[in-house]
Amino acid sequence: MTALNRTPLDRLPQWTALAKHREEFGDTHLRELFAADSGRGADYTLRVGDLLVDYSKQLVTDQTLGLLRELAAATGVAELRDAMFRGEKINITEDRAVLHTALRAPRGAVVEVDGENVVPAVHAVLDKMAAFADRVRSGAWTGQTGKRIRNIVNIGIGGSDLGPAMAYEVLRSYAQRDLTVRFVSNVDGADLHEAVRDLDAAETLFIVASKTFTTIETITNATSAREWLLGELGAGQEAVAKHFVALSTNEAGVADFGIDVANMFEFWDWVGGRYSYDSAIGLSLMIAIGPDHFREMLDGFHLVDEHFRTAPAEENVPLLLGLLGVWYGAFFDAQAHAVLPYSHYLARFTAYLQQLDMESNGKSVDRDGNPVAWQTGPVVWGTPGTNGQHAYYQLLHQGTKVIPADFIGFAKPVAELSPALAAQHDLLMANFFAQTQALAFGKTAEEVAAEGVPAELVPHKTFQGNHPTTTVLAAELTPSVLGQLVALYEHKVFVQGAVWNIDSFDQWGVELGKVLAKRIEPVLLTGEGTAALDSSTAALVANYRSLRGR
Ligand code: F6P
Repeated sequence: MTALNRTPLDRLPQWTALAKHREEFGDTHLRELFAADSGRGADYTLRVGDLLVDYSKQLVTDQTLGLLRELAAATGVAELRDAMFRGEKINITEDRAVLHTALRAPRGAVVEVDGENVVPAVHAVLDKMAAFADRVRSGAWTGQTGKRIRNIVNIGIGGSDLGPAMAYEVLRSYAQRDLTVRFVSNVDGADLHEAVRDLDAAETLFIVASKTFTTIETITNATSAREWLLGELGAGQEAVAKHFVALSTNEAGVADFGIDVANMFEFWDWVGGRYSYDSAIGLSLMIAIGPDHFREMLDGFHLVDEHFRTAPAEENVPLLLGLLGVWYGAFFDAQAHAVLPYSHYLARFTAYLQQLDMESNGKSVDRDGNPVAWQTGPVVWGTPGTNGQHAYYQLLHQGTKVIPADFIGFAKPVAELSPALAAQHDLLMANFFAQTQALAFGKTAEEVAAEGVPAELVPHKTFQGNHPTTTVLAAELTPSVLGQLVALYEHKVFVQGAVWNIDSFDQWGVELGKVLAKRIEPVLLTGEGTAALDSSTAALVANYRSLRGR
Protein backbone atom coordinates (compact mmCIF):
# COMPACT_ATOMS: atom_id res chain seq x y z
CA MET A 1 0.00 0.00 0.00
CA THR A 2 1.62 3.22 -1.07
CA ALA A 3 0.99 6.77 0.02
CA LEU A 4 -2.22 8.23 -1.21
CA ASN A 5 -1.68 11.87 -2.17
CA ARG A 6 -5.21 12.37 -0.99
CA THR A 7 -7.06 15.66 -1.05
CA PRO A 8 -6.48 17.15 2.41
CA LEU A 9 -9.36 16.32 4.71
CA ASP A 10 -10.32 19.92 5.37
CA ARG A 11 -10.63 20.60 1.64
CA LEU A 12 -13.12 17.85 0.99
CA PRO A 13 -16.67 19.04 0.27
CA GLN A 14 -17.91 16.56 2.88
CA TRP A 15 -15.80 18.34 5.50
CA THR A 16 -17.08 21.73 4.45
CA ALA A 17 -20.62 20.40 4.66
CA LEU A 18 -19.98 19.22 8.21
CA ALA A 19 -18.48 22.59 9.17
CA LYS A 20 -21.59 24.33 7.86
CA HIS A 21 -23.81 21.86 9.67
CA ARG A 22 -21.89 22.52 12.88
CA GLU A 23 -22.64 26.24 12.56
CA GLU A 24 -26.32 25.49 12.12
CA PHE A 25 -26.21 23.03 15.02
CA GLY A 26 -24.98 25.84 17.26
CA ASP A 27 -25.92 25.37 20.91
CA THR A 28 -28.68 22.87 20.25
CA HIS A 29 -29.26 21.17 23.57
CA LEU A 30 -29.81 17.48 24.21
CA ARG A 31 -32.94 18.56 26.06
CA GLU A 32 -34.30 19.90 22.76
CA LEU A 33 -33.24 16.84 20.78
CA PHE A 34 -34.98 14.50 23.21
CA ALA A 35 -38.06 16.73 23.44
CA ALA A 36 -38.36 16.71 19.64
CA ASP A 37 -38.17 12.92 19.33
CA SER A 38 -39.62 10.69 22.02
CA GLY A 39 -38.11 7.65 20.32
CA ARG A 40 -34.57 9.02 20.28
CA GLY A 41 -33.28 6.64 22.96
CA ALA A 42 -34.33 3.54 21.05
CA ASP A 43 -33.61 4.98 17.61
CA TYR A 44 -30.05 5.87 18.54
CA THR A 45 -29.15 2.48 19.97
CA LEU A 46 -27.20 -0.21 18.14
CA ARG A 47 -26.21 -3.72 19.09
CA VAL A 48 -23.09 -5.62 18.31
CA GLY A 49 -22.68 -9.10 19.78
CA ASP A 50 -23.51 -8.80 23.48
CA LEU A 51 -23.01 -5.03 23.56
CA LEU A 52 -25.85 -2.55 23.50
CA VAL A 53 -24.56 0.85 22.44
CA ASP A 54 -26.76 3.87 23.15
CA TYR A 55 -25.48 7.01 21.43
CA SER A 56 -28.67 9.02 21.85
CA LYS A 57 -26.94 11.34 24.33
CA GLN A 58 -24.52 12.47 21.62
CA LEU A 59 -24.75 15.92 20.03
CA VAL A 60 -25.89 14.58 16.70
CA THR A 61 -28.95 14.41 14.51
CA ASP A 62 -29.73 12.15 11.55
CA GLN A 63 -28.23 14.84 9.37
CA THR A 64 -24.98 14.87 11.36
CA LEU A 65 -24.70 11.11 11.12
CA GLY A 66 -25.41 11.14 7.41
CA LEU A 67 -22.75 13.78 6.79
CA LEU A 68 -20.22 11.90 8.92
CA ARG A 69 -20.87 8.71 6.96
CA GLU A 70 -20.36 10.65 3.74
CA LEU A 71 -17.03 11.82 5.11
CA ALA A 72 -16.11 8.21 5.88
CA ALA A 73 -16.98 7.23 2.33
CA ALA A 74 -15.01 10.12 0.86
CA THR A 75 -11.95 9.27 2.93
CA GLY A 76 -11.96 5.61 1.95
CA VAL A 77 -12.49 4.10 5.41
CA ALA A 78 -14.11 0.96 4.01
CA GLU A 79 -11.40 0.52 1.37
CA LEU A 80 -8.62 0.82 3.96
CA ARG A 81 -10.49 -1.57 6.28
CA ASP A 82 -10.75 -4.15 3.50
CA ALA A 83 -7.06 -3.68 2.68
CA MET A 84 -6.23 -4.32 6.35
CA PHE A 85 -8.30 -7.51 6.47
CA ARG A 86 -6.69 -8.65 3.18
CA GLY A 87 -3.23 -8.36 4.70
CA GLU A 88 -2.04 -5.43 2.60
CA LYS A 89 0.82 -3.39 4.00
CA ILE A 90 -1.23 -0.48 5.28
CA ASN A 91 1.42 0.40 7.87
CA ILE A 92 3.22 2.46 5.27
CA THR A 93 6.17 3.79 7.23
CA GLU A 94 7.15 0.32 8.45
CA ASP A 95 6.02 -1.45 5.27
CA ARG A 96 4.01 -3.96 7.28
CA ALA A 97 0.66 -5.64 7.15
CA VAL A 98 -1.69 -4.93 10.06
CA LEU A 99 -3.31 -8.22 10.88
CA HIS A 100 -4.30 -8.45 14.52
CA THR A 101 -7.63 -9.63 13.10
CA ALA A 102 -5.86 -12.82 11.93
CA LEU A 103 -4.99 -13.60 15.56
CA ARG A 104 -8.63 -14.37 16.23
CA ALA A 105 -9.59 -15.81 12.85
CA PRO A 106 -11.12 -19.26 13.25
CA ARG A 107 -9.09 -22.34 12.39
CA GLY A 108 -9.61 -22.94 8.71
CA ALA A 109 -9.87 -19.26 7.76
CA VAL A 110 -7.47 -17.98 5.12
CA VAL A 111 -5.59 -14.72 5.65
CA GLU A 112 -2.58 -14.19 3.45
CA VAL A 113 0.54 -12.13 4.02
CA ASP A 114 2.93 -12.06 1.06
CA GLY A 115 1.03 -14.99 -0.45
CA GLU A 116 1.21 -17.16 2.68
CA ASN A 117 -1.81 -18.14 4.76
CA VAL A 118 -0.91 -17.13 8.33
CA VAL A 119 -3.90 -18.73 10.10
CA PRO A 120 -2.34 -22.21 10.55
CA ALA A 121 0.71 -20.63 12.24
CA VAL A 122 -1.58 -18.55 14.50
CA HIS A 123 -3.38 -21.69 15.66
CA ALA A 124 -0.17 -23.68 16.00
CA VAL A 125 1.07 -21.06 18.50
CA LEU A 126 -2.29 -20.97 20.29
CA ASP A 127 -2.14 -24.78 20.60
CA LYS A 128 1.42 -24.64 21.93
CA MET A 129 0.37 -21.95 24.43
CA ALA A 130 -2.62 -24.04 25.50
CA ALA A 131 -0.50 -27.16 26.06
CA PHE A 132 1.97 -25.14 28.11
CA ALA A 133 -0.76 -23.33 30.07
CA ASP A 134 -2.39 -26.65 30.92
CA ARG A 135 0.90 -28.06 32.18
CA VAL A 136 1.47 -25.04 34.42
CA ARG A 137 -2.13 -24.99 35.69
CA SER A 138 -2.12 -28.70 36.49
CA GLY A 139 1.28 -28.64 38.19
CA ALA A 140 2.85 -30.88 35.54
CA TRP A 141 5.37 -28.17 34.67
CA THR A 142 7.78 -28.00 37.57
CA GLY A 143 10.65 -25.71 38.42
CA GLN A 144 14.30 -26.62 38.90
CA THR A 145 13.72 -28.14 42.36
CA GLY A 146 10.70 -30.17 41.27
CA LYS A 147 8.16 -27.89 42.92
CA ARG A 148 5.10 -26.95 40.90
CA ILE A 149 4.77 -23.38 39.59
CA ARG A 150 2.49 -21.18 41.68
CA ASN A 151 3.67 -17.71 40.64
CA ILE A 152 3.69 -16.19 37.17
CA VAL A 153 5.57 -12.93 36.62
CA ASN A 154 5.15 -11.30 33.21
CA ILE A 155 8.00 -8.95 32.36
CA GLY A 156 7.21 -6.59 29.49
CA ILE A 157 6.25 -3.00 28.81
CA GLY A 158 3.75 -1.12 26.63
CA GLY A 159 1.83 -3.58 24.51
CA SER A 160 3.74 -6.45 26.09
CA ASP A 161 2.35 -5.50 29.50
CA LEU A 162 -0.80 -3.41 29.34
CA GLY A 163 -2.96 -5.92 27.46
CA PRO A 164 -2.33 -9.01 29.59
CA ALA A 165 -2.22 -6.93 32.80
CA MET A 166 -5.56 -5.29 31.97
CA ALA A 167 -7.22 -8.52 30.84
CA TYR A 168 -5.99 -10.46 33.86
CA GLU A 169 -7.65 -7.88 36.12
CA VAL A 170 -10.83 -7.95 34.04
CA LEU A 171 -11.09 -11.73 34.11
CA ARG A 172 -9.87 -12.34 37.65
CA SER A 173 -13.06 -14.15 38.53
CA TYR A 174 -12.23 -16.65 35.75
CA ALA A 175 -8.65 -17.14 36.99
CA GLN A 176 -7.24 -20.15 38.78
CA ARG A 177 -7.12 -18.51 42.18
CA ASP A 178 -4.21 -20.51 43.58
CA LEU A 179 -1.88 -18.97 41.00
CA THR A 180 -0.30 -15.59 41.77
CA VAL A 181 0.01 -13.54 38.59
CA ARG A 182 2.01 -10.30 38.56
CA PHE A 183 3.19 -7.86 35.94
CA VAL A 184 6.51 -6.01 35.96
CA SER A 185 7.04 -3.23 33.45
CA ASN A 186 8.79 -0.24 34.99
CA VAL A 187 12.59 -0.12 34.79
CA ASP A 188 12.41 1.34 38.32
CA GLY A 189 13.90 -1.58 40.28
CA ALA A 190 11.12 -1.16 42.82
CA ASP A 191 8.67 -2.76 40.40
CA LEU A 192 10.53 -6.08 40.23
CA HIS A 193 11.41 -5.85 43.92
CA GLU A 194 7.77 -5.58 44.95
CA ALA A 195 6.71 -8.28 42.49
CA VAL A 196 9.10 -10.96 43.78
CA ARG A 197 9.90 -10.03 47.38
CA ASP A 198 7.38 -12.47 48.87
CA LEU A 199 7.69 -15.19 46.22
CA ASP A 200 9.44 -18.54 46.42
CA ALA A 201 11.78 -18.60 43.42
CA ALA A 202 11.40 -22.38 43.19
CA GLU A 203 7.69 -21.86 42.39
CA THR A 204 8.10 -18.86 40.07
CA LEU A 205 7.89 -18.71 36.30
CA PHE A 206 9.02 -15.56 34.48
CA ILE A 207 7.45 -14.78 31.14
CA VAL A 208 9.62 -12.33 29.23
CA ALA A 209 7.32 -10.57 26.77
CA SER A 210 8.88 -8.38 24.11
CA LYS A 211 8.02 -8.21 20.44
CA THR A 212 11.48 -6.92 19.54
CA PHE A 213 13.37 -8.44 22.48
CA THR A 214 15.49 -5.29 22.47
CA THR A 215 13.40 -3.04 24.73
CA ILE A 216 15.82 -1.85 27.38
CA GLU A 217 13.34 -1.80 30.27
CA THR A 218 12.30 -5.39 29.63
CA ILE A 219 15.78 -6.78 29.00
CA THR A 220 17.08 -5.00 32.12
CA ASN A 221 14.25 -6.36 34.29
CA ALA A 222 14.55 -9.84 32.79
CA THR A 223 18.29 -9.85 33.46
CA SER A 224 17.69 -8.81 37.08
CA ALA A 225 14.95 -11.42 37.44
CA ARG A 226 17.36 -14.08 36.19
CA GLU A 227 19.97 -12.98 38.75
CA TRP A 228 17.36 -13.04 41.52
CA LEU A 229 16.17 -16.49 40.55
CA LEU A 230 19.61 -18.07 40.24
CA GLY A 231 20.70 -16.38 43.47
CA GLU A 232 17.64 -17.57 45.38
CA LEU A 233 17.91 -21.10 44.06
CA GLY A 234 21.70 -21.22 44.30
CA ALA A 235 21.47 -22.74 40.85
CA GLY A 236 23.39 -22.40 37.60
CA GLN A 237 22.24 -21.31 34.15
CA GLU A 238 20.45 -24.63 33.60
CA ALA A 239 17.63 -23.44 35.91
CA VAL A 240 16.67 -20.76 33.37
CA ALA A 241 15.00 -23.31 31.07
CA LYS A 242 12.58 -24.30 33.84
CA HIS A 243 11.76 -20.79 35.02
CA PHE A 244 11.87 -18.54 31.94
CA VAL A 245 9.85 -18.52 28.76
CA ALA A 246 9.79 -15.83 26.09
CA LEU A 247 7.10 -14.26 23.91
CA SER A 248 8.65 -12.59 20.90
CA THR A 249 9.15 -12.22 17.18
CA ASN A 250 12.94 -12.26 17.67
CA GLU A 251 14.24 -15.80 18.04
CA ALA A 252 17.90 -14.75 17.91
CA GLY A 253 17.37 -12.19 20.68
CA VAL A 254 15.64 -14.80 22.84
CA ALA A 255 18.49 -17.29 22.32
CA ASP A 256 21.09 -14.58 23.10
CA PHE A 257 19.36 -13.91 26.38
CA GLY A 258 19.77 -17.56 27.30
CA ILE A 259 16.16 -18.71 27.00
CA ASP A 260 15.73 -22.04 25.21
CA VAL A 261 13.95 -21.24 21.94
CA ALA A 262 11.83 -24.34 22.56
CA ASN A 263 10.30 -22.23 25.34
CA MET A 264 9.58 -19.31 23.02
CA PHE A 265 6.07 -18.51 21.86
CA GLU A 266 6.17 -16.75 18.56
CA PHE A 267 4.25 -13.95 16.94
CA TRP A 268 4.85 -11.87 13.85
CA ASP A 269 5.81 -8.41 12.65
CA TRP A 270 2.27 -7.88 11.34
CA VAL A 271 1.04 -7.74 14.94
CA GLY A 272 1.51 -4.28 16.44
CA GLY A 273 2.58 -4.26 20.11
CA ARG A 274 -0.58 -2.48 21.22
CA TYR A 275 -2.70 -4.96 19.25
CA SER A 276 -0.91 -8.04 20.56
CA TYR A 277 -2.44 -9.36 23.75
CA ASP A 278 -4.54 -11.85 21.81
CA SER A 279 -1.27 -13.31 20.40
CA ALA A 280 1.43 -15.17 22.37
CA ILE A 281 1.69 -11.97 24.44
CA GLY A 282 -1.43 -13.21 26.23
CA LEU A 283 0.31 -16.31 27.64
CA SER A 284 0.19 -15.10 31.26
CA LEU A 285 -3.53 -14.44 30.84
CA MET A 286 -4.08 -17.85 29.27
CA ILE A 287 -2.29 -19.55 32.16
CA ALA A 288 -4.48 -17.62 34.59
CA ILE A 289 -7.88 -18.15 32.97
CA GLY A 290 -7.22 -21.33 31.00
CA PRO A 291 -7.17 -21.97 27.25
CA ASP A 292 -10.94 -22.36 26.90
CA HIS A 293 -11.71 -18.95 28.35
CA PHE A 294 -8.89 -17.44 26.29
CA ARG A 295 -10.49 -18.89 23.15
CA GLU A 296 -13.88 -17.52 24.19
CA MET A 297 -12.22 -14.10 24.38
CA LEU A 298 -10.79 -14.55 20.87
CA ASP A 299 -14.25 -15.47 19.61
CA GLY A 300 -15.52 -12.20 21.07
CA PHE A 301 -12.86 -10.27 19.18
CA HIS A 302 -13.71 -12.12 15.99
CA LEU A 303 -17.41 -11.40 16.34
CA VAL A 304 -16.72 -7.65 16.33
CA ASP A 305 -14.14 -8.00 13.54
CA GLU A 306 -16.82 -9.55 11.38
CA HIS A 307 -19.31 -6.87 12.35
CA PHE A 308 -16.82 -4.12 11.45
CA ARG A 309 -15.98 -5.84 8.17
CA THR A 310 -19.52 -6.52 7.02
CA ALA A 311 -22.14 -4.38 8.81
CA PRO A 312 -23.67 -1.56 6.75
CA ALA A 313 -22.46 1.91 7.66
CA GLU A 314 -25.71 2.80 9.44
CA GLU A 315 -25.31 -0.14 11.83
CA ASN A 316 -21.54 -0.29 12.08
CA VAL A 317 -20.70 0.47 15.69
CA PRO A 318 -16.92 1.00 15.44
CA LEU A 319 -17.53 3.25 12.44
CA LEU A 320 -20.08 5.27 14.41
CA LEU A 321 -17.87 5.64 17.48
CA GLY A 322 -14.91 6.65 15.34
CA LEU A 323 -16.91 9.25 13.46
CA LEU A 324 -18.31 10.74 16.67
CA GLY A 325 -14.72 11.35 17.81
CA VAL A 326 -13.92 13.00 14.48
CA TRP A 327 -16.98 15.26 14.89
CA TYR A 328 -16.03 16.46 18.36
CA GLY A 329 -12.32 16.86 17.63
CA ALA A 330 -12.90 18.87 14.50
CA PHE A 331 -15.96 20.92 15.31
CA PHE A 332 -16.22 21.16 19.11
CA ASP A 333 -12.50 21.55 19.81
CA ALA A 334 -12.67 18.48 22.06
CA GLN A 335 -9.14 17.57 23.12
CA ALA A 336 -9.93 14.63 25.37
CA HIS A 337 -12.06 11.52 25.54
CA ALA A 338 -13.02 9.83 28.81
CA VAL A 339 -13.66 6.11 29.18
CA LEU A 340 -15.49 5.44 32.44
CA PRO A 341 -16.14 1.82 33.30
CA TYR A 342 -18.60 0.98 36.06
CA SER A 343 -16.80 -2.21 36.94
CA HIS A 344 -14.03 -2.70 39.44
CA TYR A 345 -12.56 -5.32 37.13
CA LEU A 346 -12.12 -2.79 34.32
CA ALA A 347 -9.85 -0.64 36.50
CA ARG A 348 -6.99 -0.85 33.99
CA PHE A 349 -9.11 -0.80 30.85
CA THR A 350 -8.64 2.90 30.17
CA ALA A 351 -4.87 2.66 30.76
CA TYR A 352 -4.83 -0.07 28.12
CA LEU A 353 -6.85 2.11 25.75
CA GLN A 354 -4.42 4.98 26.26
CA GLN A 355 -1.71 3.08 24.44
CA LEU A 356 -4.13 1.68 21.88
CA ASP A 357 -5.50 5.09 20.99
CA MET A 358 -2.75 7.57 21.78
CA GLU A 359 0.16 5.57 20.34
CA SER A 360 -1.94 4.86 17.25
CA ASN A 361 -3.42 8.27 16.56
CA GLY A 362 -1.09 10.71 18.31
CA LYS A 363 0.28 11.83 14.94
CA SER A 364 0.66 15.19 13.24
CA VAL A 365 1.62 14.27 9.69
CA ASP A 366 -0.55 12.44 7.21
CA ARG A 367 0.35 9.24 5.42
CA ASP A 368 2.15 11.24 2.76
CA GLY A 369 4.21 13.07 5.41
CA ASN A 370 2.37 16.39 5.16
CA PRO A 371 1.49 18.24 8.37
CA VAL A 372 -2.19 17.80 9.20
CA ALA A 373 -4.35 20.86 9.78
CA TRP A 374 -6.98 19.08 11.86
CA GLN A 375 -7.17 17.52 15.31
CA THR A 376 -6.00 13.91 15.51
CA GLY A 377 -6.17 11.54 18.49
CA PRO A 378 -7.59 12.80 21.78
CA VAL A 379 -6.14 12.50 25.27
CA VAL A 380 -7.76 9.30 26.51
CA TRP A 381 -8.28 9.08 30.24
CA GLY A 382 -10.56 7.76 32.94
CA THR A 383 -10.82 5.42 35.89
CA PRO A 384 -13.76 3.41 37.23
CA GLY A 385 -16.73 5.72 37.28
CA THR A 386 -17.92 5.68 40.86
CA ASN A 387 -14.47 6.63 42.10
CA GLY A 388 -14.30 9.34 39.47
CA GLN A 389 -17.62 10.75 40.64
CA HIS A 390 -15.96 11.74 43.90
CA ALA A 391 -12.89 13.15 42.17
CA TYR A 392 -12.90 14.62 38.68
CA TYR A 393 -16.58 14.44 37.63
CA GLN A 394 -16.98 18.00 38.95
CA LEU A 395 -15.07 19.15 35.88
CA LEU A 396 -17.17 16.97 33.59
CA HIS A 397 -20.37 18.47 34.97
CA GLN A 398 -19.48 22.12 35.44
CA GLY A 399 -16.09 22.69 33.80
CA THR A 400 -15.42 24.56 30.56
CA LYS A 401 -14.15 21.69 28.46
CA VAL A 402 -15.91 19.45 25.97
CA ILE A 403 -15.03 15.90 26.99
CA PRO A 404 -17.09 13.20 25.31
CA ALA A 405 -17.26 10.13 27.52
CA ASP A 406 -18.02 6.44 27.16
CA PHE A 407 -19.83 4.79 30.06
CA ILE A 408 -19.41 1.00 30.21
CA GLY A 409 -21.53 -1.09 32.56
CA PHE A 410 -22.97 -4.56 33.10
CA ALA A 411 -26.38 -5.80 34.16
CA LYS A 412 -25.07 -8.57 36.39
CA PRO A 413 -22.30 -8.59 38.96
CA VAL A 414 -19.69 -11.34 38.63
CA ALA A 415 -21.03 -14.71 39.70
CA GLU A 416 -18.69 -15.29 42.61
CA LEU A 417 -19.85 -12.31 44.72
CA SER A 418 -21.76 -13.17 47.88
CA PRO A 419 -25.48 -12.31 47.72
CA ALA A 420 -24.87 -9.31 50.00
CA LEU A 421 -22.13 -7.93 47.75
CA ALA A 422 -24.07 -8.75 44.59
CA ALA A 423 -26.92 -6.67 46.01
CA GLN A 424 -24.69 -3.59 45.82
CA HIS A 425 -24.75 -3.86 42.04
CA ASP A 426 -28.01 -1.94 41.66
CA LEU A 427 -26.53 1.00 43.56
CA LEU A 428 -23.48 0.91 41.29
CA MET A 429 -25.65 0.88 38.19
CA ALA A 430 -28.03 3.51 39.51
CA ASN A 431 -24.99 5.79 39.57
CA PHE A 432 -24.08 4.69 36.06
CA PHE A 433 -27.47 5.71 34.65
CA ALA A 434 -27.75 8.83 36.80
CA GLN A 435 -24.46 10.25 35.60
CA THR A 436 -25.20 10.12 31.88
CA GLN A 437 -28.61 11.61 32.63
CA ALA A 438 -27.11 14.47 34.63
CA LEU A 439 -24.41 15.08 32.02
CA ALA A 440 -26.93 15.19 29.19
CA PHE A 441 -29.78 17.15 30.70
CA GLY A 442 -28.23 19.06 33.58
CA LYS A 443 -30.37 21.23 35.80
CA THR A 444 -31.49 24.65 34.68
CA ALA A 445 -31.25 27.84 36.75
CA GLU A 446 -35.05 27.89 36.86
CA GLU A 447 -35.15 24.39 38.29
CA VAL A 448 -32.55 25.29 40.88
CA ALA A 449 -34.34 28.52 41.86
CA ALA A 450 -37.66 26.67 42.13
CA GLU A 451 -36.09 24.59 44.89
CA GLY A 452 -35.71 27.74 46.96
CA VAL A 453 -31.95 28.07 46.47
CA PRO A 454 -30.80 31.64 47.32
CA ALA A 455 -30.28 33.68 44.15
CA GLU A 456 -26.55 34.12 44.66
CA LEU A 457 -26.07 30.34 44.78
CA VAL A 458 -28.18 29.55 41.73
CA PRO A 459 -25.34 29.86 39.18
CA HIS A 460 -23.15 27.58 41.30
CA LYS A 461 -25.81 24.91 41.55
CA THR A 462 -26.85 25.05 37.90
CA PHE A 463 -25.74 22.24 35.60
CA GLN A 464 -25.55 23.29 31.97
CA GLY A 465 -25.76 19.66 30.76
CA ASN A 466 -25.30 18.93 27.05
CA HIS A 467 -22.19 16.85 27.74
CA PRO A 468 -22.08 14.02 25.18
CA THR A 469 -21.84 10.41 26.29
CA THR A 470 -22.16 6.94 24.83
CA THR A 471 -23.48 4.16 27.04
CA VAL A 472 -22.25 0.61 26.47
CA LEU A 473 -24.23 -2.00 28.36
CA ALA A 474 -23.76 -5.78 28.41
CA ALA A 475 -25.35 -8.55 30.46
CA GLU A 476 -22.11 -9.54 32.16
CA LEU A 477 -18.38 -9.26 31.91
CA THR A 478 -17.34 -12.50 30.25
CA PRO A 479 -14.15 -13.32 28.31
CA SER A 480 -16.11 -12.93 25.08
CA VAL A 481 -17.46 -9.54 26.12
CA LEU A 482 -13.94 -8.35 26.93
CA GLY A 483 -12.81 -9.42 23.45
CA GLN A 484 -15.79 -7.60 21.94
CA LEU A 485 -15.00 -4.41 23.84
CA VAL A 486 -11.34 -4.38 22.89
CA ALA A 487 -12.06 -5.07 19.23
CA LEU A 488 -14.66 -2.31 19.28
CA TYR A 489 -12.05 0.21 20.40
CA GLU A 490 -9.38 -1.16 18.07
CA HIS A 491 -11.65 -0.57 15.10
CA LYS A 492 -12.84 2.79 16.38
CA VAL A 493 -9.20 3.90 16.47
CA PHE A 494 -8.76 2.49 12.97
CA VAL A 495 -11.69 4.49 11.62
CA GLN A 496 -10.35 7.73 13.05
CA GLY A 497 -6.86 7.13 11.67
CA ALA A 498 -8.36 6.40 8.26
CA VAL A 499 -10.42 9.61 8.23
CA TRP A 500 -7.53 11.71 9.53
CA ASN A 501 -5.27 10.03 6.93
CA ILE A 502 -2.56 9.16 9.43
CA ASP A 503 -0.60 5.95 9.87
CA SER A 504 -2.19 4.51 13.00
CA PHE A 505 0.24 1.61 13.13
CA ASP A 506 3.67 3.15 13.60
CA GLN A 507 5.00 4.89 16.72
CA TRP A 508 8.06 6.91 15.73
CA GLY A 509 7.25 9.41 18.45
CA VAL A 510 8.60 7.09 21.13
CA GLU A 511 12.09 6.89 19.64
CA LEU A 512 13.74 10.21 20.49
CA GLY A 513 13.36 9.80 24.24
CA LYS A 514 14.92 6.33 24.03
CA VAL A 515 17.98 7.67 22.15
CA LEU A 516 18.46 10.58 24.57
CA ALA A 517 18.13 8.31 27.63
CA LYS A 518 20.89 6.11 26.24
CA ARG A 519 23.09 9.20 25.89
CA ILE A 520 22.30 10.56 29.34
CA GLU A 521 22.75 7.36 31.36
CA PRO A 522 26.58 7.37 31.14
CA VAL A 523 26.62 11.08 32.03
CA LEU A 524 24.73 10.25 35.24
CA LEU A 525 27.33 7.64 36.10
CA THR A 526 30.51 9.53 35.19
CA GLY A 527 29.57 13.20 35.10
CA GLU A 528 31.40 13.45 31.79
CA GLY A 529 29.60 15.00 28.86
CA THR A 530 27.43 17.57 30.64
CA ALA A 531 28.85 20.29 28.38
CA ALA A 532 27.00 18.75 25.44
CA LEU A 533 23.69 19.09 27.27
CA ASP A 534 21.41 22.16 27.29
CA SER A 535 21.75 24.36 30.36
CA SER A 536 18.58 23.11 32.04
CA THR A 537 19.38 19.42 31.64
CA ALA A 538 23.05 19.97 32.55
CA ALA A 539 22.10 21.67 35.84
CA LEU A 540 19.48 19.03 36.63
CA VAL A 541 21.99 16.26 35.99
CA ALA A 542 24.56 18.01 38.20
CA ASN A 543 21.98 18.30 40.98
CA TYR A 544 20.99 14.68 40.54
CA ARG A 545 24.61 13.54 40.79
CA SER A 546 25.16 15.62 43.89
CA LEU A 547 21.94 14.36 45.56
CA ARG A 548 22.94 10.83 44.60
CA GLY A 549 26.28 11.39 46.38
CA ARG A 550 28.45 11.20 43.27
O1 F6P B 1 8.40 2.09 22.68
C1 F6P B 1 7.08 1.81 22.40
C2 F6P B 1 6.91 0.36 22.13
O2 F6P B 1 7.56 0.01 20.97
C3 F6P B 1 5.45 -0.04 22.05
O3 F6P B 1 4.89 0.21 20.82
C4 F6P B 1 5.52 -1.47 22.43
O4 F6P B 1 4.28 -2.00 22.77
C5 F6P B 1 6.50 -1.41 23.57
O5 F6P B 1 7.43 -0.42 23.18
C6 F6P B 1 7.20 -2.68 23.92
O6 F6P B 1 7.92 -3.20 22.83
P1 F6P B 1 8.44 -4.68 22.83
O7 F6P B 1 7.28 -5.59 22.92
O8 F6P B 1 9.20 -4.82 21.56
O9 F6P B 1 9.35 -4.85 24.03
